[in-house]
Amino acid sequence: MTTTEAVIADDAAYAQAVETAVKAAGAYYAGGDSALDDHAYDRLVRAIAAWEADHPGQVLPDSPTGKVAGGAAVGDVPHTQPMLSLDNVFSAEQFAAWAASLERRIGQPVAAWSVEPKLDGLAIAARYREGRLTQLITRGDGTSGEDVSHAIGTVVGLPGELSEPVSVEVRGEVLMTAAQFETALAVRAEHGGEPFANPRNAAAGTLRAKDRAYRLEMTFFAYGCLPLPGAGEELAARLTGSAHSGLMAYVAGLGVHTTAGTEVPGRTVTTVEEVQDRVAEIAALRAELPFGIDGIVVKADAAEDRRTAGSGSRAPRWAIAYKLPAVEKVTTLLGVEWNVGRTGIIAPRAVLEPVEIDGSTVTYATLHNPADITRRDLRIGDRVMVYKAGDIIPRIEAPVAHLRTGTEQAVDFPAACPQCGSAIDTSEQRWRCERGRDCHLVASVSYAAGRDQLDIEGLGLTRVVQLTDAGLAKDFADLFALTREQLLALDRMGPASTDNLLAAIERAKARPLARVLCALGVRGTGRSMSRRIARHFATMDNIRAADAEAMQRVEGIGIEKAPVIVAELAQLAPLIDKLVAAGVNMTEPGATPPRPDDAPGDGTVAVAGADDEGKPLHGMTVVVTGAMTGPLEKLSRNQMNELVERGGGRSSSSVSKRTSLVVAGENAGSKRAKAEELGIRLMSPGDFAVLVADLLP
Ligand code: IVH
Repeated sequence: MTTTEAVIADDAAYAQAVETAVKAAGAYYAGGDSALDDHAYDRLVRAIAAWEADHPGQVLPDSPTGKVAGGAAVGDVPHTQPMLSLDNVFSAEQFAAWAASLERRIGQPVAAWSVEPKLDGLAIAARYREGRLTQLITRGDGTSGEDVSHAIGTVVGLPGELSEPVSVEVRGEVLMTAAQFETALAVRAEHGGEPFANPRNAAAGTLRAKDRAYRLEMTFFAYGCLPLPGAGEELAARLTGSAHSGLMAYVAGLGVHTTAGTEVPGRTVTTVEEVQDRVAEIAALRAELPFGIDGIVVKADAAEDRRTAGSGSRAPRWAIAYKLPAVEKVTTLLGVEWNVGRTGIIAPRAVLEPVEIDGSTVTYATLHNPADITRRDLRIGDRVMVYKAGDIIPRIEAPVAHLRTGTEQAVDFPAACPQCGSAIDTSEQRWRCERGRDCHLVASVSYAAGRDQLDIEGLGLTRVVQLTDAGLAKDFADLFALTREQLLALDRMGPASTDNLLAAIERAKARPLARVLCALGVRGTGRSMSRRIARHFATMDNIRAADAEAMQRVEGIGIEKAPVIVAELAQLAPLIDKLVAAGVNMTEPGATPPRPDDAPGDGTVAVAGADDEGKPLHGMTVVVTGAMTGPLEKLSRNQMNELVERGGGRSSSSVSKRTSLVVAGENAGSKRAKAEELGIRLMSPGDFAVLVADLLP
């Protein structure tokens, strides 16, 4: 071994290493695309082999070294019926071919299909005797598993007692939700343990760990149920004769978690086309789910179809796993950058060795705040597990600790603001330069001039730097006092661009209040919240007169946010006064001020004023998603939201039961799928343009 060879420290790290290797080697990766490159994989297997040489009695059956002869018992608890695995398909064509072969085998069309998420955790059998949870067993080699009953009480979704005193074995997946994983990392770090690489490894390690000083919570979702000896003939017949969907409803009725309560509930459909549609829906929702899925499981629903199809030694013939592309890859953490935002927040960002995940190259990942780095025990040079699905910002799950070589370096936390050198306020999770928004003048001025705020054409970053360097812009209100002479004196400012810029600045004075408010950059008031506040209060005077209680009457502003907004606005008084003096508009067109007797906020205060009645979107909550086309093509998402609100509606970024309409443009993904799932009205950009034709700019 060379000095940089990976070393496995303990049995938990060994179990994790085996998990990682199995995953990399197996059919898990579509198109042979492994999360570990060859070099990392070889190194991992060498480390596993080295550990096994020292611990021959503890070799796991899954080990890629093949030290355990096939089928050797891993646990001492035999399964009543084998715990099978699933065969995989990777495309619509492969699925259609599989479905056709199943129908040939059973000699008739499949009566109904059950479609459910493939949860990315570990299979487990939970034995309930007379309604009491008595034993938890891992899948092991499928024939017998390990007794992990010590985990009873730590698994959400597996109640200690069922609603009926029945003797059944509920089978399903144990995993950690994103929130449980974050807590697990934090607790583990507190106890000096190595971080888990990802939620699946965390669940695997946690399930097996017997003597930890701390308990970590996991979540269970059932996908099967069988009678145990003593169940009684009637129940046994009922369970074996039940459709899969009926079985799931029965299990849920007993009080056990199923996918029914999730964003991707199991569904029964009748045609292969409907299966494909549901697969697409679940795939589109993947990035937003609070737990990992690595595919979709499609099962023949009827008991009769399952019985006729039968099972092979490895997998049933009546079910298939429709695998989704890997959304996790291992890459190297090259460094951490600290960027100061316009409000003075100092945010760390991970710089990664570029890695291709789910069709795009990932070079940076979010690191939320400094505590995030500590919780994950991240070190420069670490091999890290990176997650990226759909449109979400890539994130580091955790380092793959057993791949450490000992050459990794601690992350340097800044002692002073990297932008201006002032002290850092570290009292909150998110660190902030003590100078707040004054720190990053360039960022705050260019934000204010941005397209979604004052929209000052010709005032790009370079110009802003010139203006701040020359001392001509100490805040963005100074822009309105710029003279022709001052601008002409700047490098590369000719008469034409000077006049254009002055005209653009003049136009900016007439922007609606919502945009002026947004330009102020008050924490918690982005584009849509600024519009809500502006429409609610109608004038800047009303906003400034509002106390925390009045502020809470704006939908979405709660007791925590309201005083922060009120206090920041008070701090900004000199800047607002300066804007007023410069002649900047301070009213919101079409908005009516709140009546003094308006009810306090209960989250349902109408955003639209009384004069919104008769407008095309009156009373509607509208979500815009995907790329706009036709007459709306040039509109930014912010302008679309403004359009919705001009039409008397309320714009929202997430689809829920309360959404009235979803405008779905090209490549609309998960939001469209969710709208379809919830039966919410969908409209193309073209049809929407007709609806709001009178309001178009
Ligand atoms: S059915 C006999 N349904 O995927 C049927 N399995 O790759 C076997 N899994 O070992 C399982 N979600 O651990 C089924 N909705 C689901 C599942 C699911 C995840 C796991 C299970 C199985 C593995 C096979």
